[in-house]
Amino acid sequence: MSSDSKRKQQKKSSNAGATIAQLADRHEYYEKAVQCVEAEIDIVDETYKSIRGKRAKRLREDFCGTANTSCEWIRRRKTNSAIGLDLDQSVLDWGIANNLSKLNQQQRDRIILKNSNVLIGHDDLVDAILAMNFSYQLFKTRDQLRQYFSIAREGLKPDGLFFIDAYGGYESYKTVKEKTKYDNFTYYWHQKKYNPITGDMLCHIHFKFRDGSKMKKAFTYDWRLWTLPELREILQEAGFTKSTVYWEGTDEESGEGNGKYSPTEKGDDDPSWIAYVVAEK
Ligand SMILES: C[S@@+](CC[C@H](N)C(=O)[O-])C[C@H]1O[C@@H](n2cnc3c(N)ncnc32)[C@H](O)[C@@H]1O
Repeated sequence: MSSDSKRKQQKKSSNAGATIAQLADRHEYYEKAVQCVEAEIDIVDETYKSIRGKRAKRLREDFCGTANTSCEWIRRRKTNSAIGLDLDQSVLDWGIANNLSKLNQQQRDRIILKNSNVLIGHDDLVDAILAMNFSYQLFKTRDQLRQYFSIAREGLKPDGLFFIDAYGGYESYKTVKEKTKYDNFTYYWHQKKYNPITGDMLCHIHFKFRDGSKMKKAFTYDWRLWTLPELREILQEAGFTKSTVYWEGTDEESGEGNGKYSPTEKGDDDPSWIAYVVAEK
């Protein structure tokens, strides 16, 4: 037996009896359950082109986590480059080991990950900044959110665009555990608490696996649920000249969202929606 097969055999026996949850990597399941970076980058790429009439090249991903989205941006075109910012070095390290490692050297040279607070300004101006998966909702007061938005604005080139996502609808104000089944696991989005007086909410992500084992509170979010009109007002207060809401279209057969987002001033009273807001410097 080679030393490599011996090591694998030893690992197998030391894992014997362990549940899937004990062996599972929470970032791997987060990426599978929560992210669709191809669709997200399609939206960013096409929206930038439709507003500015040219392609964006340099992108900054705030709250980048494992930098999955930045890696997708890098793969799109040889002229693309990315900076990812996150203040958790362990998450950045996971991204380096599992996402950046899949890029070739030429692609790897076009991405930088920085252990940095998004509230720190950066001189390296970019065409587009993304703050996705509602991460900015950790700023709970209007002053904090305005400060973050204005720092993001300063990090953009004169014709740069700032992209955020938002969610809402009357179901978003309920305490609820919503479950989505995937081939090998079930993903739970758990809105544990919502306080209508402050707008504060506490949410968890849990996973359940084929053997019945569970990874509870794989991720926890202590957020304020901001509304679209509040976000647009605060973007304006932070100096952005214009903000546009991109609302999801409806599939006529299923009545569900069709994944196509268009600019509009009129949404529907959906029980649960996700939208994008694009702000122009
Ligand atoms: C919900 S995850 C977002 C992951 C990714 N952006 C996505 O689209 O799925 C939030 C990330 O923000 C990071 N974070 C929280 N506060 C931050 C701050 N002030 N500056 C930079 N990163 C921050 C956390 O470490 C975490 O990795």
